Amino acid sequence: MTTQTTPRARVCVLISGNGSNLQALIDACARHEIPAEIIQVISNRADAFGLQRAQKAGIPTAVLDHRTFADRAAFDAALADLISQSQPDWVVLAGFMRILTPEFVQRFIGKLINIHPSLLPRHPGLNTHARALAAEDTEHGATVHFVTPTVDAGPAIIQGVCAVQAEESAESLQARVHQLEHQIYPLALAALVAGAVRYEHGQAQWASGNPANAPRQIFA
Ligand code: GRF
Repeated sequence: MTTQTTPRARVCVLISGNGSNLQALIDACARHEIPAEIIQVISNRADAFGLQRAQKAGIPTAVLDHRTFADRAAFDAALADLISQSQPDWVVLAGFMRILTPEFVQRFIGKLINIHPSLLPRHPGLNTHARALAAEDTEHGATVHFVTPTVDAGPAIIQGVCAVQAEESAESLQARVHQLEHQIYPLALAALVAGAVRYEHGQAQWASGNPANAPRQIFA
């Protein structure tokens, strides 16, 4: 008698720095909370600490330095080819600090996701925590979303929400939001791998009645 195992989803993670979200995904896969295998971690920076996290977990890594390419299009084309070599089911941006060309996004659309430290559509771009404070927002958080050609504008999959407290600093807010990120990114990837949510007609479509349905918002 032969035993058959369901093939685990293949995930490629792109980073530029610390990689704490990568770590959350590595840990969730190791705990079997996501039936997936991170098959490759790619960084555009050789000094990204996340590369060490990947190596410690036995995950193959690659560095593709954007500064060695003539322009953004050339880098993105090489990056897309490198990603495709490992035939991933999902391409996960985890603190990958590059604006991607529409050509790159189109190549992976529907299986390309990102995490952003704000409750999109509020505060796309950088310095989101200081901007949430300046705007006197009462709530702040993080969003996992499908990537579409317009930066930080793709449909949300899951958001993590926290209250902005009195006397809050951008640093304290950032720390709480980061904790939320580490919760919602594994939840989002698990939902995608389970087929509970998918990208359709420019929207994040949830399968109704799917027991693997993950919450679309969680609150700190
Ligand atoms: C996170 O805040 C994420 O939302 C943003 O970049 C940061 C990456 O942090 N896209 P880390 O490298 O995962 O610690």
